[in-house]
Amino acid sequence: MQTKIAGIAHYVPERVVTNEELTRFMDTSNEWIIERTGIEERRYAEKHKETPSSMGAKAARIALERAGIEAEDLDFIIFATLSPDYYFPGCGVLLQRELGITKREMGCLDIRNQCSGFIYGLSIADQFIRTGMYKNILLVGSELHSMGLDYSDEGRAVTVIFGDGAGAAVLQATDKPGQGVLTTCLHADGTHAEELAMINPGSHGGYHLGQDKFGYPDPSVMGGMFVTQKMVDEGMLYPNMTGQLVFKTAVVKFPEVINEALSKVGLTAADIDLLIPHQANLRISQFVQRVLKLPDEKVQNNIQKYGNTTAASIPIALSEAWEEGKVKEGDLVCLAAFGSGFTWGSALVRW
Ligand code: UT7
Repeated sequence: MQTKIAGIAHYVPERVVTNEELTRFMDTSNEWIIERTGIEERRYAEKHKETPSSMGAKAARIALERAGIEAEDLDFIIFATLSPDYYFPGCGVLLQRELGITKREMGCLDIRNQCSGFIYGLSIADQFIRTGMYKNILLVGSELHSMGLDYSDEGRAVTVIFGDGAGAAVLQATDKPGQGVLTTCLHADGTHAEELAMINPGSHGGYHLGQDKFGYPDPSVMGGMFVTQKMVDEGMLYPNMTGQLVFKTAVVKFPEVINEALSKVGLTAADIDLLIPHQANLRISQFVQRVLKLPDEKVQNNIQKYGNTTAASIPIALSEAWEEGKVKEGDLVCLAAFGSGFTWGSALVRW
């Protein structure tokens, strides 16, 4: 058995936030954002009405319809996000509930691999399907970044990049020779864990970086270990990123992990019909495109419209490519991602 993508879909919130709108409350400019990232606008979810799991459910319903199955037919749910509704429980169970699945108590798994979450999820689903354990798996990547960004000048390098949205794939067992997921490659290097991270709130208690930095009291004092007053006062409750390190590592790891997958199955970059890179930065995608010598029509980019939607970016881009008729039966689709962790990965899918 192999794993085919039987249905792919996406949902993005209605509200469009242009670069110009961001300039109203932080020191940035349309020119800077476009030149450094390619982003023109992004979507922000409706506060208190939309969540990662509710957006994921919207994408999932369309994916299920496109796959021609009901939510109750699912055997397993995998949810990838870095911006979950709750610290715990994870979004998988919330999605199960949101989809109204009451008759089947299927397993729900959350994965926390940020930008490479969808690829990690696809690889996990592929193992379950190949071994015959499950036949229908729902994989969702969904992010609501806009609630957790720093809209002051200090946060501008991170805030301008990220947007909200969700993508969903229904993965199904197929015995058609050569169809489906050909291979997946997963990697990580925890050396740089804090270089692209949201450290607080968390249970680290200052362990990695020193207690003083976070204003922790005497460690023998119980309670109050998640958020300290200092974190609130000094704006430490936001994501941080060492942009240039991430950029420089990404442009090496993207081509490396794509070539690794291609060589595993005896193919080359010339065999790729469509590359869907995680939408981190248009400049990164263009660099990867040049290294792999791919023409424009073989690379799907939509960061201009949505910014970086982390775990949702690959399924959103794949869904749009499918809707535009760019993915046809027999095509070789390559997915690749790099991000926080650092974690990275690739997948080759014969459509
Ligand atoms: O999906 C997760 C993975 N993330 C990524 O792959 C992101 C990878 N990194 C990047 O995309 C880029 O590093 C950024 C887009 C984040 C930043 O671009 P950069 O060319 O690396 O800029 P920089 O951080 O070196 O900053 C250059 C200048 C600085 O000013 P000075 O020190 O030269 O005076 C920044 O303060 O640009 C300034 N700057 C801004 N200016 C206007 C930083 N952010 C902004 C901003 N608007 N939003």
